[in-house]
Amino acid sequence: METRLLHADVIKMTEADFKKLSEYIYEHYGIKMPITKKPLLESRLQKRLRENRITSFKHYIDYLFTPHGQSVELIPMVNAVTTNKTNFFRESDHFTFLSEVVLPDLVSRKVTAPNIWSAGCSTGEEPYTLAMVLSDYSAARGGLNYSILGTDLSTDVLQRAVNAVYTEDMIVEIPLAVRRRYLLQSKSREAKVVKIAPALRERITFQRLNLMDDHYGTLPDFHVVFCRNVLIYFDRPTQERVINKLAAKLERGGYLFVGHSESLTQMQVPLRQIRPTIFQKL
Ligand SMILES: C[S@@+](CC[C@H](N)C(=O)[O-])C[C@H]1O[C@@H](n2cnc3c(N)ncnc32)[C@H](O)[C@@H]1O
Repeated sequence: METRLLHADVIKMTEADFKKLSEYIYEHYGIKMPITKKPLLESRLQKRLRENRITSFKHYIDYLFTPHGQSVELIPMVNAVTTNKTNFFRESDHFTFLSEVVLPDLVSRKVTAPNIWSAGCSTGEEPYTLAMVLSDYSAARGGLNYSILGTDLSTDVLQRAVNAVYTEDMIVEIPLAVRRRYLLQSKSREAKVVKIAPALRERITFQRLNLMDDHYGTLPDFHVVFCRNVLIYFDRPTQERVINKLAAKLERGGYLFVGHSESLTQMQVPLRQIRPTIFQKL
């Protein structure tokens, strides 16, 4: 007989369940999960168990490791587990540095088609901010035929990034003049949402990519890589491996930006530090 679950019921995760799942997540996605994350993992996966009509974590994990579970449940599980907090113009000094130092440097080196990667782009605010900054620079100082790649592990956030629709509270950090240039108001008065203008959207491609992949072979080389507030979820050896793989995809003289709380101190990487969180490929 099927056990019926009430929405108020919380399905409990044992320490053994947590160990199995957290080890799997760490090994495949790099995301470190100390035991203090058990309540978080338990609560984020409640919906997955409900949707699969599974009443214990033991059964959920057994199912996840079956061939069928691997093909249909792995992606929703990962989507539920990732933390996707982001906003437009986050850590805004990076964008100032980009337009005042990086872009003039690239132009002086005759790079007219800069290729930029937002690795761990979440719901798109970071790559769209990059597009706003590059389009403004291009309009003021002459045409840059730029392209941007946004990648993330979570297919949910990538879908939202492709949709490019944001509520009004999400756009408060975008300067008013920039909003006027690059945001389209919704036609409906009730729906207080905006959409990124096609001129920016057509510059950006989104793709799923796990930074834990052995190498990022199919990707082109980049002049600028933003990988911000992603490394914090990894342990130090994983961070160093990821930074080296990102550096391998940078053109010589290209720039890597990491988040303000992230550091490459004591890592063996082919990069020189030019600001606390900005690096240049040697
Ligand atoms: C906190 S968000 C940062 C978004 C943006 N870069 C920023 O700074 O605002 C971190 C993103 O990293 C992604 N992520 C975590 N582990 C990843 C992995 N192994 N490969 C690719 N992306 C990953 C998450 O899905 C999430 O969207």
